Amino acid sequence: MVELRRQLALEPMREADVPAVQDIERRIFSTPWPRNAYYRELSSRNSAYYIVLRREIERGVEVVGYGGMWRMYDEAHVTTIGVRQDLQQQGYGRIIFAGLIQAAYDLGAKWVTLEVRASNGGAMRMYENFGFKVIGRRKGYYTDNGEDAVVMWSDSIYSPRFRKAMEGNLERIEAEVRGLRREPLPPS
Ligand SMILES: CC(C)(COP(=O)(O)OP(=O)(O)OC[C@H]1O[C@@H](n2cnc3c(N)ncnc32)[C@H](O)[C@@H]1OP(=O)(O)O)[C@@H](O)C(=O)NCCC(=O)NCCS
Repeated sequence: MVELRRQLALEPMREADVPAVQDIERRIFSTPWPRNAYYRELSSRNSAYYIVLRREIERGVEVVGYGGMWRMYDEAHVTTIGVRQDLQQQGYGRIIFAGLIQAAYDLGAKWVTLEVRASNGGAMRMYENFGFKVIGRRKGYYTDNGEDAVVMWSDSIYSPRFRKAMEGNLERIEAEVRGLRREPLPPS
């Protein structure tokens, strides 16, 4: 495991990654996106930012997980994040989410928001570990089962509290990950 995790890379998602991403997504989400949605997102490079986490295996390289974000004015909105079902809870989600947060700084956002199913305590815990707070609920937001969405918010990503949480998460990533920066976050 440790050996494999030495060969990780966070990279922009390419069109060629979409089938692998969809393969993961179909197993972990009850309402996966249609394929066209990914191609559309990847073609709107100005506002959308999508990444994949790859790892080297004997036969080559495989996609472990992925994440995406839109930037609208000062806000970055996490649109999706997922880790292959059999590889969850091994620290990969933290790497992908840290990559998205770094992108939020790079894109000039001031805060980050996201929605998560009210029943998805595991994902919420990860976001809370990154300093996110619950700021509201959208009643019946998910049309497949009428579940509420919990809306979470980072507060200012330049606040000392948020930066400390981000740095704590970066410290917990032992593996070397190409494409993930370890140096201090940009000043406010
Ligand atoms: C949510 C998801 C992306 C997290 O990725 P992951 O690789 O499983 O998470 P990690 O192993 O990096 O864990 C990071 C933190 O998340 C939390 N966490 C993740 N899964 C958890 C679970 N099932 N139960 C409780 N906490 C969990 C923990 O706080 C963990 O930190 P810890 O190591 O201090 O316990 C992944 O589980 C997933 O793809 N889930 C299905 C799709 C999904 O729900 N996406 C989010 C939609 S908003």
